[in-house]
Amino acid sequence: MPYMARLDVTETFNGILFPGHLHTQESLQFALTFLFQDRDIVIASYPKSGTTWMQQIVTLICSRGDPHVSHTVPNWTRAPWLEQYYSEALMESFIKPRVITTHLPYQLLGSAVQGSKAKVRIIYVSRNPKDVVVSFYHFHKMAKFLPDPESFSNFLYRFLEGSVHYGSWFDHVLGWTNQDADLNLLHISYEEMLLDPKGTIKKVSSFLQRPLLEDEVNSCVKHSTFSSMKHNQMINYTLVSQEIMDQSKGPFMRKGGRKQRYSVVSDVPNTKILTQPLLDLSRVLKNHGISG
Ligand code: A3P
Repeated sequence: MPYMARLDVTETFNGILFPGHLHTQESLQFALTFLFQDRDIVIASYPKSGTTWMQQIVTLICSRGDPHVSHTVPNWTRAPWLEQYYSEALMESFIKPRVITTHLPYQLLGSAVQGSKAKVRIIYVSRNPKDVVVSFYHFHKMAKFLPDPESFSNFLYRFLEGSVHYGSWFDHVLGWTNQDADLNLLHISYEEMLLDPKGTIKKVSSFLQRPLLEDEVNSCVKHSTFSSMKHNQMINYTLVSQEIMDQSKGPFMRKGGRKQRYSVVSDVPNTKILTQPLLDLSRVLKNHGISG
């Protein structure tokens, strides 16, 4: 692969910051002009929303609950992020169905998805923003390719104004979920996955038109629990060097769950959304005066 300069810490692409460790202007451009194919499965999400969990679930569904692939192939190889620099090379040798992950907002990836006219199945995963921002804050502390988050209040402020890496959570969620009617899109929330893992797996397998036997569903559940994934090297990022992800500062599989504790700063815009008891995304958006 020809050498391509990684994005500088302050360099944006279409106004959004992306970690330079994984992205180049060319790799992001590659994603925007990507030719999707029939049967492609796309997992789209804002970071820290349950992306890795869904990658594990989809891998398991595609192998009918057999954990072999999920225990032998790292998640970034079996379900690569389209916009990251290594994915172009991977796509060439990918067997079908291709499972493709993306953190790009619809505002950037939408024309490639719509323009290719392929029958793409998109699973959009969202998570309560209160938990996303806490998880993202801790992730910034251990991921060396992201800037120091400084204090939680500062980070929260930047999250709410949408100036953190990967851009605005609000734009991301609204961008993808407003397209329900035009896209073959299944919207699953992290909270739903927590409440009903088995039901979620059945829903995803039916959406992907891959019906499973009860034993196969049970095996998918077993190999996608928090504790099983926490101990699976192919999904817990312990294969990544400490210079890139310093898990001594906190594990990638940190805590899971919802409504975590943190202090709320009252003088930042949009804080109201973070102070209410949030149960699911539609309620989050409604409380915020946004209809999904
Ligand atoms: P926490 O930091 O709150 O623990 P992403 O994959 O989008 O980066 O999301 C990571 C978040 O999903 C982390 O949240 C991680 O612990 C959580 N997660 C991953 N797998 C999970 C599982 N099987 N059950 C519950 N949470 C999971």
